[in-house]
Amino acid sequence: MFMYAKLSIILLLTTAFSSSPALSAATATNLLRRGSSLSVEKPLLLVSPNGTFSCGFYQVGNNSFTFSIWFSKSSNKTVAWTANRNSPVNGKGSLLVFRKDGNMVLLDYNGDIVWSTDTSGPSTNHAELLENGNLVITDHGGKYLWQSFDYPTNTLLPGQPVTLSTKLLSENSSLASSSHFVCRYSDDNMLSLIFEGAELSAIYWPPPSSSPWSYNRWTSNSTRYGVLDDQGFFKLSDNLTFYASDFAAVGIKRRLTLDNDGNLRLYSLAEGNGSWSVSWQAISKLCQVHGLCGKSGICVYSPKPSCSCPPGYEINDPNDWSQGCKPAFRISCADKTKLIMLPQTDFWGSDYYFAGGISVRDCKIKCRKDCSCVGFQYMNSIRTCNLKSSLYNGNTYPGHWGTIYLKVPMTMNVSTISIPQSGLNVPQAHDPTCNKSHDFAENFTKASTKSQDSAVFLYMYGFVSAIFIIEALIITLGWCFMFRKQVEPIETLDNYKAITNHFRRYTYKELVKATKNFNDELGRGGSGVVYKGIVDDERLVAVKKLNDVTQGEEEFQAELSVIGRIYHMNLVRVCGFCSEGPHRILISEYFKNGSLDKILFDEPQNSNNVLGWYERYKIAAGIAKGLAYLHHECLEWVLHCDVKPENILLDAELEPKIADFGLAKLLHRGGPDPQMSRIRGTRGYIAPEWAFNLPITAKADVYSYGVVLLELVMGMRVSDMATEENEKDVGLRTLIETVKRKLNGGEPHWVSGLVDVRLEGHFDSSQAAAMVKLAISCLEEDRSKRPTMSETAQILLHLGKY
Ligand SMILES: *[C@@H]1O[C@H](CO)[C@@H](O)[C@H](O)[C@H]1NC(C)=O
Ligand SMILES: *[C@@H]1O[C@H](CO)[C@@H](O)[C@H](O)[C@H]1NC(C)=O
Ligand SMILES: *[C@@H]1O[C@H](CO)[C@@H](O)[C@H](O)[C@H]1NC(C)=O
Ligand SMILES: *[C@@H]1O[C@H](CO)[C@@H](O)[C@H](O)[C@H]1NC(C)=O
Ligand SMILES: *[C@@H]1O[C@H](CO)[C@@H](O)[C@H](O)[C@H]1NC(C)=O
Ligand SMILES: *[C@@H]1O[C@H](CO)[C@@H](O)[C@H](O)[C@H]1NC(C)=O
Ligand SMILES: *[C@@H]1O[C@H](CO)[C@@H](O)[C@H](O)[C@H]1NC(C)=O
Ligand SMILES: *[C@@H]1O[C@H](CO)[C@@H](O)[C@H](O)[C@H]1NC(C)=O
Ligand SMILES: *[C@@H]1O[C@H](CO)[C@@H](O)[C@H](O)[C@H]1NC(C)=O
Ligand SMILES: *[C@@H]1O[C@H](CO)[C@@H](O)[C@H](O)[C@H]1NC(C)=O
Repeated sequence: MFMYAKLSIILLLTTAFSSSPALSAATATNLLRRGSSLSVEKPLLLVSPNGTFSCGFYQVGNNSFTFSIWFSKSSNKTVAWTANRNSPVNGKGSLLVFRKDGNMVLLDYNGDIVWSTDTSGPSTNHAELLENGNLVITDHGGKYLWQSFDYPTNTLLPGQPVTLSTKLLSENSSLASSSHFVCRYSDDNMLSLIFEGAELSAIYWPPPSSSPWSYNRWTSNSTRYGVLDDQGFFKLSDNLTFYASDFAAVGIKRRLTLDNDGNLRLYSLAEGNGSWSVSWQAISKLCQVHGLCGKSGICVYSPKPSCSCPPGYEINDPNDWSQGCKPAFRISCADKTKLIMLPQTDFWGSDYYFAGGISVRDCKIKCRKDCSCVGFQYMNSIRTCNLKSSLYNGNTYPGHWGTIYLKVPMTMNVSTISIPQSGLNVPQAHDPTCNKSHDFAENFTKASTKSQDSAVFLYMYGFVSAIFIIEALIITLGWCFMFRKQVEPIETLDNYKAITNHFRRYTYKELVKATKNFNDELGRGGSGVVYKGIVDDERLVAVKKLNDVTQGEEEFQAELSVIGRIYHMNLVRVCGFCSEGPHRILISEYFKNGSLDKILFDEPQNSNNVLGWYERYKIAAGIAKGLAYLHHECLEWVLHCDVKPENILLDAELEPKIADFGLAKLLHRGGPDPQMSRIRGTRGYIAPEWAFNLPITAKADVYSYGVVLLELVMGMRVSDMATEENEKDVGLRTLIETVKRKLNGGEPHWVSGLVDVRLEGHFDSSQAAAMVKLAISCLEEDRSKRPTMSETAQILLHLGKY
């Protein structure tokens, strides 16, 4: 403290008797030399050569200032960059000093260093504000040691690159605010807008309801680079390109800003009056921005976007809509409830259950019976029912194809006036993506009436919401298999009851009885031993005693209530658990056919028992769908972390069912290392990133899936090759290199050499070639080059149409 005080006195002296001609002269300069400084009291500015930008102290409050760069000719001094956005300095006594040692620092009135460039060194020459708005510190050779372009705040200028590390943060990201908007490259290599809230964080642009290819974006180019040019043309490595509406008009000053409302806009400056006009924007219907109206809030167009609360809900903080709404009532599970209808409305996400082809009446009954249901979305045109566990990202506009039903107490008085509705003047789309989603809504309705048509199916599959429907159909079919004995009409109420009743807590005693004292062992693995059992209703179940669960009962139960709610045709249903004393046990469906490894690798008694080509394709597609569901559609993001044939069970129709999902989560909680390093998959199937201790993402499952896919085609354990040579995946890598060479070499019929000989040539070679190619891309060492699980599922779905 003392040292700083002394320092600032010296610096004050330096300023007062500055020997720098640049600063003692009243004229503006674009250079700041070592040993000179700027202060609020002595308003000197750095000005770019042609005067477009100014740099200096910028007033943000009565007595608070930031060190910023702004457009000199905009009427409101629009800021393009700020050094200390979240910690403004005092108006009196604060200094920006370019120290003799080459470091540029911002000192508050008390001498505290608020910000610095860390550029001290003998080679540092001077600081300079360039005509493009970049503040640079150069060395004697003119090389940039530091530049403000590397640290954008909420604005990008022409010539300023978007790279891997670029992150724009909307302004209200000060520590006081709990939520904010971010613009950066996502893990999928796409420039994205992301809402980062206290409870939830989600990408809202590009629109999550469509797949990347539907708006020409690429997820495979991991270069992550892009730049806006002076003329108003923006091009990114993810194939996003756009032109400003005043493209190529000469001399226009532009900025690309992530505004406080979460939209990314390109602005052009009218030099005559200093005002800005929008020449491009990412989102034309602002209500598509996530988080604008907070939890349970609904974004309405009136016609300007604004927020409102659903009936029975009240605003949390009248000054801050991002805090959302809270129910003005309390419902306990036993209370009588009713459902009020909000037409043309949706709350995006937080779906925990879907069903297709059911009536709104049945959907209502499901929601009423389930305590965790706060409401549901029903789509009349396709009769789908999505139950919601919480309400986020609400919006309403005329022509919206969903209807929301909200659960409220029976006694509540609801007037129709309080139901939020948009006026008729909804902003019209300016960008092609929006037109597409509009068309989509139309075609969607049409398509639904003839959903057997595979072409229509394919078209629909590109859209997440459509995936829901397919999943719903698949789930219903899945149930159909499970409950064939009981029901003919697929979705009756009894059926539903059966399902909810199936997930329950068992006592240890019950399980001892069910398994005849853990007698009939089905298999064992790293996570525990599995026994066969018969529970009270005479169902056969698999009972897994988990090792190594350090979680307390409540935590375990909470985790399981999530796992227990996951329904998918290609996932083994967990139907109960036991958590008593030291025992942590999972009860799940039992499948007589056992796991994929047996049917695929064991020598069959006769050649008729070899797994056929069509079944292999079906199994590959099913696993992909199940994993895609876990990764992308689930209530919570679930990684499997141990995908291998042993964990893929087959039902009577040879439909694959993935087992042991969610275990990674269960086992890691309470473990010593939060990075999940304790749980490792199985050798031969694990992605290289495990070895490098990198954070594990969904792409690790994609890798393991690639191995399984290859094994399905080849009918042998690829993982055996992997372990032969000194623990390195040499065998597998050699195989991959060979296949790649053959692919590139355009060698015909290369694939027949790979396919399982036991098939005796009975396979579809174009399908096989495509599957091998897909497997190879899943096995990329660079995980950003691997496709996502939903892309993989899409590709396989296409293959099925040959
Ligand atoms: C400054 O303006 C002049 C004349 O308008 C132009 O020729 C020159 O290129 C500009 N300089 C920069 C760095 O833009
Ligand atoms: C700023 O100054 C004005 C007038 O001097 C005063 O009314 C206002 O309360 C001040 N604001 C803050 C945040 O101190
Ligand atoms: C890249 O984008 C352009 C323009 O948006 C589009 O015409 C083209 O088809 C896209 N390419 C791919 C491979 O998606
Ligand atoms: C990836 O993006 C970079 C930068 O835009 C581009 O140069 C490169 O050609 C792209 N790679 C592919 C495979 O398209
Ligand atoms: C950001 O903060 C300012 C002042 O604190 C407030 O007026 C404005 O409404 C906030 N904007 C958003 C989007 O929260
Ligand atoms: C500023 O000038 C431009 C054209 O030069 C005009 O379109 C715009 O309406 C003006 N804005 C204001 C606020 O006067
Ligand atoms: C300057 O800012 C004020 C308040 O933020 C706004 O009302 C005004 O329209 C702005 N002027 C221009 C020319 O953008
Ligand atoms: C419900 O509203 C009606 C008419 O607005 C009113 O007469 C009635 O008293 C209200 N009931 C309750 C319980 O508030
Ligand atoms: C999008 O819609 C607008 C208005 O309906 C129309 O003018 C424009 O041509 C459409 N764009 C495309 C790419 O279809
Ligand atoms: C919608 O369907 C019509 C005819 O059924 C077709 O011409 C049009 O291209 C479809 N729109 C989209 C976006 O696929």
